[in-house]
Amino acid sequence: MSLDLDRIRKDFPALEQGIAYFDGPGGTQVPRQVAEAVAGAMTSGISNRGLGTAAERRAEDVVVAARSAIADLLGCDPGGVVFARSMTQATYDVSRALAKEWVAGDEVVVTRLDHDGNIRPWVHAAASAGAELRWVGFDRETAELTVDDVRAELSGRTKLVAVTGASNVLGTRPDLPAIADAVHEAGALLYVDGVHLTPHAPVDVAALGADFYACSPYKFFGPHHGVVVAVPELLERIHPDKLLPSTDEVPERFELGTLPYELLAGTTAAVDYIAGLGSDAADRRTRVLESMRTVEEYEEELFARLLDGLRQIRGVTLYGAPKRRTPTVFFSLAGHENQEVYEHLATVVVNAPASSFYAIEASRWLGLGDTGAVRAGLAPYTSPDDVERLLAGVAEVAG
Ligand SMILES: Cc1ncc(COP(=O)(O)O)c(C=O)c1O
Repeated sequence: MSLDLDRIRKDFPALEQGIAYFDGPGGTQVPRQVAEAVAGAMTSGISNRGLGTAAERRAEDVVVAARSAIADLLGCDPGGVVFARSMTQATYDVSRALAKEWVAGDEVVVTRLDHDGNIRPWVHAAASAGAELRWVGFDRETAELTVDDVRAELSGRTKLVAVTGASNVLGTRPDLPAIADAVHEAGALLYVDGVHLTPHAPVDVAALGADFYACSPYKFFGPHHGVVVAVPELLERIHPDKLLPSTDEVPERFELGTLPYELLAGTTAAVDYIAGLGSDAADRRTRVLESMRTVEEYEEELFARLLDGLRQIRGVTLYGAPKRRTPTVFFSLAGHENQEVYEHLATVVVNAPASSFYAIEASRWLGLGDTGAVRAGLAPYTSPDDVERLLAGVAEVAG
């Protein structure tokens, strides 16, 4: 099946304003079905989780359904799905819990390609345990980060490697299965930031070799909260700080306080929405995989046009040229501030902001300082017309 762009665009009320949204990597727009699920949960008569009353059961059902939806999205065990305030929060929580077991002389590996959400929690956790931090760079021309780059920083003392599934500015998709093999050979754990990968590719956490995989539903049509998944057996071995009366069961012991039921209902609706984008297979996991393949194909073709168009505009520099990438491009225009490009695009109702987007290490590594460049990312609702409008807007600035 191919994507039915007209139908998809009608599902997104925000698109009615005529804005071309290229800021999906910062958070996608939301289909009506997701917003309705959030409102529906809030007005359905809901209490704290329990089995005594219908309202308690509704809360219970919302949580169980959301774990099952994430399991179908990522190909993992619903019993290993942990919900959090954000990916950043989830990663800080996991890092602090893991660091309790680390000692001076242990090593933790982070990369310059990652969003700070998958760097700073590890920097702080390593420091708290007296562990040594090791940095993996990436090729400044291609923006590739290879298994050899990672291997060079591994040792018998490595406890954990944190690496992105896809760069939220450069789009690079490192070879995770190969990296996972190297990390596991060294006896370490692999923590994958899947925030920017999940909206653009079919994901199978086990096949990727991730011990932990974190993502954020608001990057794939859902509400603002975070998720981290792992196999339940691994979670059983980790003991986060928690309140005395709260359950010690996995995954609940990682979820501090009351879960945001209405957001979880929205996340289930977001996964259902994805599953319906390009498949009518019987089971949801198959629908998700088929739909995400269709999304990938659609975005790849449209992205080729975007890259080609940008290359033809005088003065455009495209940062990185990774072979496997998400449809996200980071660029600047000679003689013009990034901010100027972003502001001009906004006047022609094209949203493509300029920043380092918290990928601050990557931005500095590329010599772009803390201000970064202009970023444009595609989503399944991006139309060929949106792309032409972006290109025309950039060409106007170039003069
Ligand atoms: C690649 C990547 N990782 C992590 C994050 C942080 O996610 P959250 O806002 O859920 O903490 C982002 C957000 O932009 C991101 O793009």
